[in-house]
Amino acid sequence: MNILWVYAHPEPRSLNGSLRDAALVQLRSDGHTVEQSDLYAMQWNPVVQPVDYGHDPAERFKVATASSKALAAGMQTPDIVAEQQKLLRADAVVLQFPLWWFSMPAIMKGWVDRVFVEGFGYGIRRADGRSRRYGDGTLAGKRAMVVVSMGGSEHTVSPRGINGELDEMLYPIQHGILFYTGMSVLPPVLVASADRMTETDYPAAESELLQRVKGLPTDEPIPYRTQNGGDYDRQFVLRDDLAPEDTGVRIHTER
Ligand SMILES: Cc1cc2nc3c(=O)[nH]c(=O)nc-3n(C[C@H](O)[C@H](O)[C@H](O)COP(=O)(O)O)c2cc1C
Repeated sequence: MNILWVYAHPEPRSLNGSLRDAALVQLRSDGHTVEQSDLYAMQWNPVVQPVDYGHDPAERFKVATASSKALAAGMQTPDIVAEQQKLLRADAVVLQFPLWWFSMPAIMKGWVDRVFVEGFGYGIRRADGRSRRYGDGTLAGKRAMVVVSMGGSEHTVSPRGINGELDEMLYPIQHGILFYTGMSVLPPVLVASADRMTETDYPAAESELLQRVKGLPTDEPIPYRTQNGGDYDRQFVLRDDLAPEDTGVRIHTER
């Protein structure tokens, strides 16, 4: 397989850095091709550039529309095109990051903002005019997996844990970005209690990651419901007969 490993940690000698190094060694020795986007090392620019269309107030609405169009396919800078090419070449995409304020570090969000532009990440239509997203899109057929470390313990992301369930916490990333753009999302790898990890604890965390990495080609994805598979009405609301009485993000997974 061709694997794209996207990594967002400022310090290569961190826990995340050690885990990343071990995973890449294993993937390569198993015969996979690995490309990396080490966002801090690349000094990735996460900031969407404003487009200067002048100051005529009458143009304001057009400017707002044009700014999003300026991000669209065909008008990007070489750094964005290079990342899109890596994604297109990949069979599987791994996002590895430490959990910062319940999400990915800003540099990785800025990678998504700038790379997954209109015509690439969203705004893609089928011949019948229906949008291709949530299980369909440019990246359909590829696998994706989140590898995330967190300071909190596993209990805090258990079904009644104070942080909310892990799949709920990662829903904006796993469902809103990875599945949205068409990818099949494997269950995440969680490295919990990361700040308290000792040298004695580390081998278990590394071997769990390596085992999950081995499963990249074959593990069962999270069974998210596809937008165009018949489960949603014309307003993209889940049909009444599916997961009746239930609400929240969990209803978008077949159980
Ligand atoms: C800015 C920042 C925000 C953080 N936010 C969270 C958080 O929301 N939840 C959590 O459990 N840990 C949080 N942490 C702890 C990190 O997830 C933890 O330090 C990291 O995963 C450890 O891995 P590392 O040693 O490779 O950095 C945060 C740490 C920083 C620096």
